[in-house]
Amino acid sequence: APGQPKDLLARPWHDLRISVMDRCNFRCPYCMPQSVFHDDFAFLEPAQRLDFATIERIARVSARLGVSKLRLTGGEPLLRPQLDTLVARLVALSGIDDVALTTNGVLLDRHLDALYHAGLSRLTVSLDSLDPGVFSRLSGGRDALDTVLSAIDKAASRGFPGGIKINTVVQRGINEQDILPLVSRFRHTGITLRFIEFMDVGTRNHWSESAVVPSATLLERIGAVYPLEPLEPLYRGEVAQRYRLADGSGEIGFISSVTAPFCGDCSRARLSSEGQIYTCLFAKTGTDLRPALADSDDAALETLLRRIWRGRADRYSEIRNPDPQRASGERIEMYYIGG
Ligand code: GTP
Ligand code: 5AD
Ligand code: SF4
Ligand code: SF4
Repeated sequence: APGQPKDLLARPWHDLRISVMDRCNFRCPYCMPQSVFHDDFAFLEPAQRLDFATIERIARVSARLGVSKLRLTGGEPLLRPQLDTLVARLVALSGIDDVALTTNGVLLDRHLDALYHAGLSRLTVSLDSLDPGVFSRLSGGRDALDTVLSAIDKAASRGFPGGIKINTVVQRGINEQDILPLVSRFRHTGITLRFIEFMDVGTRNHWSESAVVPSATLLERIGAVYPLEPLEPLYRGEVAQRYRLADGSGEIGFISSVTAPFCGDCSRARLSSEGQIYTCLFAKTGTDLRPALADSDDAALETLLRRIWRGRADRYSEIRNPDPQRASGERIEMYYIGG
C-alpha cells in the first residue's frame, strides 16, 4: 500500500515479533545457560518492561506501516501476568489479522482457555525431545516433559483457528534420535512439527557448523520411514519448507536458515521487552523506541519506525560464512528477542 515503507532490499514490513518478557523458566544451554543466567543475573525490573498500553501503541503504529502479523515471544511470554489481556488488545487493532504465541509450554495448560477466548490465532510450542533425560538436559534441568506434553494434547483438543505447531531445534548428536519418535508422536494430531537447523544466534551457544544437521539429511531420514510430498509455500517468504506425509496423517516443516537462508523475503522486525527494535535476529544493535514513545503524539514513533525499516539491509543468514560479525561476537542474545 502507498505510504508503507520498503527496506533497502525492497522488502516490505509484515511481521512484528514482540518479546514481552526477558525471563524464562527454562535454562536451555543454547539460549540461557544456567552458568550465565544464574540466580543473581540482573534481568529487567518489571517497570523497565514496556507496559501493555505501550506495546499496543507500537503495534498500532506498525500496522499503519504494513504489519499484519504479530507474534508474542520471550524469554517465556507466559511469565508475563495477564498476557491474555494483551492478546485481546492486539487482536482488536485495525490491520492486525494474526496474533500468535511462542512458548515452552510449561505454563500453557492454565492459560489455554484465556488465550483462546482472547482471540489468539496460532500457537507454537518449543519441544526438542521426547526423552525425559534429554529433555531435562536441553531445558537446563527442568523436568517438565509430561507437563508440556499434556498441555500440547489439551491445546490440540481445544484447537486454535490458525493451528498449532511444535518447533524442534535439532543438534547433531544431542537430539537426532528424537526425530522419528517426534514425527510418530504428532501424526494424526493435526499439529505441524517443524525441525529447525541449529543457528549461531547470540554469543553463548558455542555454535559450530558441525552441530547442524542439514534439513536435507532429516528429509531423507524421515522420508525413508514416512514418505513425504512437498507442499507449495502458503505465502511469499514463508520460513518453513512444508511437506505432507503421503499417507495423509500429517504435515511437517523444515526451517533451514543455515543451509537454505530465507533473507530474500524477510519481512520481520523484533521488539525487545524494554523497547528496542531489531531488524534482524542477528543484529548487533537495535534502535531504542523510548525517546519517540515519550512524545504523546504517535507521529514521532511512526517517523522513527519508518526510518528504521527503510534503512534496513540485513541478510545475515545469507552472508554467515565468512562472517566478520561472528568473530566480533557482538550481537543480540536470543532470549532477549525470542527467536
Ligand atoms: P510465522 O511466520 O509467524 O508462522 O512464524 P514462523 O513460521 O517464522 O515460525 P516461528 O516464529 O515459530 O519461527 C520458528 C523459528 O524459525 C524461530 O524460532 C527461529 O529459530 C527461526 N526463524 C524465524 N524467523 C526467522 C528469521 O527471520 N531469521 C532466521 N534466521 N530464523 C528465523
Ligand atoms: N537455533 C535455532 N533455534 C533456536 N531457538 C533458540 N535458540 C536457537 C538456535 N540457536 C528456538 C527455540 C524456540 C524458538 C523461539 O527459537 O528452541 O523454538
Ligand atoms: Fe529455552 Fe526458549 Fe527459554 Fe531460551 S527462551 S531458555 S530457548 S525456553
Ligand atoms: Fe531476516 Fe536476519 Fe533472519 Fe535473514 S537472518 S531471515 S534478514 S532475521
